[in-house]
Amino acid sequence: MKIRETLAAEFDRFSNTYTEDMIRCVPHYLRLLSGLCDSLPEDFSARRILDLGCGNGNVMALLLERFPDAEYTLLDASPDMLELCCKRFSGENITCVRSYFRDYTFPEDYFDLVAACFSLHHSDSEEKQWIFPLLHKALKQDGIFTCSDLMINKSSAEHAGLLREWEAFVNANHPDREKWDWLTEHYEAYDRPDAYDDQKSWLLAAGFRYVDVKWREGYWTHFIAGK
Ligand SMILES: C[S@@+](CC[C@H](N)C(=O)[O-])C[C@H]1O[C@@H](n2cnc3c(N)ncnc32)[C@H](O)[C@@H]1O
Repeated sequence: MKIRETLAAEFDRFSNTYTEDMIRCVPHYLRLLSGLCDSLPEDFSARRILDLGCGNGNVMALLLERFPDAEYTLLDASPDMLELCCKRFSGENITCVRSYFRDYTFPEDYFDLVAACFSLHHSDSEEKQWIFPLLHKALKQDGIFTCSDLMINKSSAEHAGLLREWEAFVNANHPDREKWDWLTEHYEAYDRPDAYDDQKSWLLAAGFRYVDVKWREGYWTHFIAGK
């Protein structure tokens, strides 16, 4: 499967310009990123945190502000992204794991918080349904899974409209259209978003007690799910 063989290399290539590209090519990236922490209950505390698909560490930077004393597991298949992240936070209490989600042995009853920001849309429906029960098991009781991503089925009637709006956003920031051309190739090859309602039903089936949307604009969605 192409995505399995080449996703890590795709993100290695992307790593140098990653944050700038995300801000200018992904609508609401910064809002969805900050929501990961902001939407957690005020009295929620976390000792062990998993950043699933940590990229270059933008999620970790926010988590660290809120949970400075936590132990972090940073998981990513892209060697270059992981290296950027781990160098950025060397000196912090981090464990860096270079692995595809499929090859990682999720611990049981271990994390207080799992965060996934724009990483799970690379997993198809089958992989999401495989990983949600593992995330549930990996969390301690009352633990939280916080997730921000694009949430729409590519086969839905609304998908064409989403692409039109997204194209206008990217081309407003990059009028030469080169980024949109690159993005459409990347999106076709590597992105497997699923609708929020489907993901909610898979999370509930996996044992989560609740799944709540905390912020949403169109299909750009942030939710939290509680064990
Ligand atoms: C779009 S980036 C998001 C990075 C970061 N979470 C953020 O919000 O800035 C997606 C990251 O997830 C990683 N990723 C996606 N699917 C993965 C998988 N199945 N196994 C391991 N890493 C994966 C990619 O390598 C990439 O670094």
